[in-house]
Amino acid sequence: MTKIMSKNIAVIKGDGIGVEIISEAINVLKKVEQKYNHNFNLTYVEMGGCAIDKYGVALPDFSLEQCKNADAVLLGSVGGPKWDDPTAKVRPEQGLLQLRAGLECFANIRPAKVYAPLAAASPLKESIIQKGFDVIVVRELTGGIYFGKSGREGDSAFDTEHYSIAEIERIAKVAFEIAANRKKVIHSIDKANVLESSRLWRETVQKIAKQYPQIQVINMLVDNAAMQLVRDPSQFDVIVTNNIFGDILSDEASQISGSIGMLASASKGEGSKGIYEPIHGSAPDIAGKGIANPIATILSVAMMLELSFGLIQEADAIDKAVNSVLEEGYRTADIAAKNENSIGTREMGQLICDKI
Ligand code: IPM
Ligand code: MG
Repeated sequence: MTKIMSKNIAVIKGDGIGVEIISEAINVLKKVEQKYNHNFNLTYVEMGGCAIDKYGVALPDFSLEQCKNADAVLLGSVGGPKWDDPTAKVRPEQGLLQLRAGLECFANIRPAKVYAPLAAASPLKESIIQKGFDVIVVRELTGGIYFGKSGREGDSAFDTEHYSIAEIERIAKVAFEIAANRKKVIHSIDKANVLESSRLWRETVQKIAKQYPQIQVINMLVDNAAMQLVRDPSQFDVIVTNNIFGDILSDEASQISGSIGMLASASKGEGSKGIYEPIHGSAPDIAGKGIANPIATILSVAMMLELSFGLIQEADAIDKAVNSVLEEGYRTADIAAKNENSIGTREMGQLICDKI
């Protein structure tokens, strides 16, 4: 029988729990392949601490090439104590930044929501969570202070926040397109009372907003946003912000949902290609123990199917499978309540596969 869709996927396991969670995500991908008659060709790519050990760099040129040649990249996590020396010239995280820049994936899309069966896992009061929490953080990913001029001068050090109008315009458009299919309200987060780059950000978002008259834009300062997120997270739907604020606010949003082990992300450029990864790190403290939560990575597979391949039905089948496994009460340790039994990475992956 001819395959309905054939795609090349570069798979980066990386370090720490990356290896375990990716293997569950691959099982899910294989289940979808079989059930819906697609063909996913996987190429395993080396990046992160493991690549530093072998090649002396976090992202060797040939690894980047492999990713450029693929239709999408699925990524576990990179980093660990072994490579954590802050004075080291090469660091696993460099691989991540070089990959994002190399594939020009400027838009990082991080959905965070409370799964009804996990509402008790949120650290916020029930009265706050009951009002609902379902946001998408749209974070600019290839500019700002992460990529600005930095260095040391005598006994001081500097990093530069830098944005061009074009960079702000393209990320704003991504956010407006997402908001158009949701509640039609965007919070644009900046520090325009202090930073010039934030004033340009605000000005540019306002300009793009004119093309989307049906969408309401609320400008909010980042310190206030950090506070509002825990005071009343239900007021947010789509958040658009720069690289560093997005890094911080998306971690904060993830905790509201209960566990960082649940949250997927997509990084997209202009075309269909994307990088799909959980928002959590390599969790060296639990690596190799078989207890990590694979759900964030499995949901990243769902985002890949939808956003890079347009396979909406298949993505939906994964989301539903995750939901029903949670509804049946299965929990990995990170999302289990005190006194609740937990299952391991393998079992969670298998249960989700069985539901697809
Ligand atoms: C993330 C991570 C990375 C970032 C680190 C590991 C470089 O925190 O994806 O949010 O800051 O972008
Ligand atoms: Mg982060």
